[in-house]
Amino acid sequence: MSIAEKLKSRFIVLDGPDGSGKSTQAAMLAEYLKTQGISPAVFRDPGSTAIGEKIRDVLLDSKNNLMGDRTELLLYMASRAQLWQERIAPALKEKKCVLLDRWLSSTCAYQGFAGGLGIAKIIDIAKHSLERIWPDLTIILDVDLRTAKTRIKRKFDRMEQKAAGYHKKVRTGFLELAELRDDIIVLDASADQQTVHKEIVRTIEKYFNL
Ligand code: TMP
Repeated sequence: MSIAEKLKSRFIVLDGPDGSGKSTQAAMLAEYLKTQGISPAVFRDPGSTAIGEKIRDVLLDSKNNLMGDRTELLLYMASRAQLWQERIAPALKEKKCVLLDRWLSSTCAYQGFAGGLGIAKIIDIAKHSLERIWPDLTIILDVDLRTAKTRIKRKFDRMEQKAAGYHKKVRTGFLELAELRDDIIVLDASADQQTVHKEIVRTIEKYFNL
């Protein structure tokens, strides 16, 4: 079976702390997959639908500093429910390989672990909010706080402005979540872009027996 055949209807997520380089890596991975004859559907969460992009603006606007933890959680989940219905479910039905920049793993690490709502509660709420909660494979790009900060070149948004202690917990949250599930794999993302890219490709090849 060809690689294109094996990655049909596969749902793959790149996730990790702010500054882990996952958006750059998602773009590099999409380019690589194209060289393999696969044209992936690439989306970002929150976002990638008209409604989701509006919700994203509300979530990241630093003026919305009164936003409560539960409001934050429900807005991320709402954007995701729309993304599933409008973009992901149809793409998977068309047998496309779907590549996501963040997903539920982020809600577990940010609102669940760092925000204090608890990972178990987040998963429970996700089960009630989404048709499908876990991707086929989630790759967490792990990076230390100092390296992560140097990679964010623009003005910090509302989430990035949260205290260093919060972001430290986000990193731990991702690592704890990965302990719970075999379909979540952690990679060291502190190296240069090409090295991390090769590691991501190697991980996908191994995981899906390509
Ligand atoms: P991005 O800049 O990587 O697109 O992500 C937007 C921000 O939202 C980032 O700081 C991580 C945060 N986030 C959560 O707090 N919970 C979530 O469920 C998701 C998807 C993102």
